[in-house]
Amino acid sequence: MMGREEIKHQLEQLRREIEQHNHAYYVLNAPTISDYEWDQLLRKLQAIEAEYPDLITPDSPTQRIAVEPAEGFKRVPHPAPILSLANAYSDEEVRAWFERISKLDERVKDADFVVEPKFDGLTVVLHYQNGRFAQGTTRGDGENGEDISSNLRTVRSLPLRIPLAGAQIDPPANLVVRGEALIYLDDFSRLNRELEDAGERTYVNPRNTASGALRQLDPNLTASRPIRLMCYDIISADGDIPTRQTEVIAYLEKLGFPVPDGIVYAKDVAGVLEAYEAWVRRRETLPYEADGVVIKINDLSLSKDLGIVGKDPRGALAYKFPAQVVTTELLDIGLNVGRTGVITPYAILEPVEVGGVTVRQATLHNFDFIKEKDIRVGDRVLLKRAGDVIPYIIAPVVEARRGQEPRYELPAQCPSCGEPLQFSDTEVALYCVNQACPSRLIRNIEHFASRGAMDIEGMGIKLAKQLVDSGIVQDIADLYSLTIDDLLGLEGFAEKRAQNLVDAIDRSRSQSLTRMIIALGIRNVGESVAADLARHFGSVESLASASKSDLESLEGIGPVVAETIHDWFHQPTNAAVLEKFKARGVSLEMAEVEQRAQSLAGLTFVITGSLETMSRSEAKELIQSAGGRVVGSVSSKTNYLVAGDAPGSKLAKARALNIEILTETQLLALSASE
Ligand code: IVH
Repeated sequence: MMGREEIKHQLEQLRREIEQHNHAYYVLNAPTISDYEWDQLLRKLQAIEAEYPDLITPDSPTQRIAVEPAEGFKRVPHPAPILSLANAYSDEEVRAWFERISKLDERVKDADFVVEPKFDGLTVVLHYQNGRFAQGTTRGDGENGEDISSNLRTVRSLPLRIPLAGAQIDPPANLVVRGEALIYLDDFSRLNRELEDAGERTYVNPRNTASGALRQLDPNLTASRPIRLMCYDIISADGDIPTRQTEVIAYLEKLGFPVPDGIVYAKDVAGVLEAYEAWVRRRETLPYEADGVVIKINDLSLSKDLGIVGKDPRGALAYKFPAQVVTTELLDIGLNVGRTGVITPYAILEPVEVGGVTVRQATLHNFDFIKEKDIRVGDRVLLKRAGDVIPYIIAPVVEARRGQEPRYELPAQCPSCGEPLQFSDTEVALYCVNQACPSRLIRNIEHFASRGAMDIEGMGIKLAKQLVDSGIVQDIADLYSLTIDDLLGLEGFAEKRAQNLVDAIDRSRSQSLTRMIIALGIRNVGESVAADLARHFGSVESLASASKSDLESLEGIGPVVAETIHDWFHQPTNAAVLEKFKARGVSLEMAEVEQRAQSLAGLTFVITGSLETMSRSEAKELIQSAGGRVVGSVSSKTNYLVAGDAPGSKLAKARALNIEILTETQLLALSASE
């Protein structure tokens, strides 16, 4: 039996280890172990803690995962006022600011600066006591914030302990750090896609999503949102801390905080203006939304001496980016019919330029949004376009109404098939429930043939529409009876294209079972669920006859997903499609290669350059089907780099890290070995 002290020690070590991996993953974006290994560590920790609940500490990584919803937020006084920033919109305004403060203190003339991105997120104030995350609050009114500690604990990039193991610094016993909580653009798009697939309501923009998730009472919900953190300021400390902003950032980074990447140092105002231009150019490629830059006098004691005006420190200034918001006329509200039948409204606009791009359509999110904002056809509307996020309508300009605009009425019929629309059980979305609806079918074909599914080259949405409109294809299985003659009857088809398409369709008959399951387009069934289903059931037939409880017995499949899968196979129209597939020689079983021993289990690969016979995604699939893992960047935990022609920097990095490099042939040999 281990003594209590030993157990305590073991817990400590496990916690440290997990936090190190979290830091590598969420802050450095360079994972050091596989998700699986990470899970194992966490489970081990959970198991020991379950046995010794009195040894659970609030900074344990297990405590990130969820606690009971809070009753309400406590108000917490800030240790020092949480200041705001004055804004500038032009170079002149920046120069004028500099002139003003130069007059107040002549040291300003020789001052140097830091130019940071101005993150469009939610300000958070993070308290650390003796190296442990003790409390986290919102900005509130600048004097008092709301205690959102339980929610913040679920944010993976927030260090629960500082410093990072191995860092040779001893942080002050009390340290309060300021940062911004935000959601990256690609995480935001992914989140919305998942919500859409699940028939749930999507979010309007990353900022409000982050802010909403942190300022509601259930930490479980916060945990399910991809919130990140960026830290850039020390609010108070009872020990020595750096006195220059450049050093503060480096110091925070060393302690384990996520800090802004690529901040620019400028030695004078001309340098500041150049840095601003550089950020404007970088703006579109930033992974997060920034609405400007923050110019800071590097010497923080000088900055402090300059004092504040109202709530704005004189020593820093926000220089805003050019507007991404414009107004235009809402010509009409169009309706999209999704694969699952969900109807989504979109704005048809008088074309308008925003940030160098002409926008003609924008998302209106959902019908509730139209109702809440009372958006009417004919309105002038505020439109925003930022980065990769689809342009969206913010609100109508009510003052610009001429009085003729009627309130928007919900559609009663499907714009495609004319069948009456229905609300889903939860009433968040309108659906067309007609399985034979042509718009749904077109989307289904598009999905079925897409790269991640059956991968039928040449079959896109345009062709899907042609095939459905002409009546040749009435369900997805009809693709497998298409003839060259059928295709020659369509616009844009000559012999060669028709032949290529028929060949591509033919090749897809033997796609893997996983892809077939993805292709069926069952709600909530993406790549990883499909792979699990394929592995477990081995054929569509056996999957189709699985009971809800059979399905639920698989890890990662909950009651909701089990029910959607079960329901899908019990729809008579779907059963008929599966029969047709069978009759037309489409493989519905796991091929032998798929069943091959998991020869690459536990190994991590990176693929680079163009391979001889396979595409990179085919290579990825091969590795995954043999149990291996494919990641995007080379790190010390990469086992193999698969390199083709024109490999780029990954090859150099792999060599530097002494990672074994494979050719395509070697990969094939390795994956085929037992
Ligand atoms: S410095 C006294 N730096 O912008 C220092 N603020 O409009 C004031 N913000 O509420 C803050 N990115 O939350 C600073 N790199 C950055 C920032 C930043 C975003 C936010 C901050 C503040 C708002 C002011």
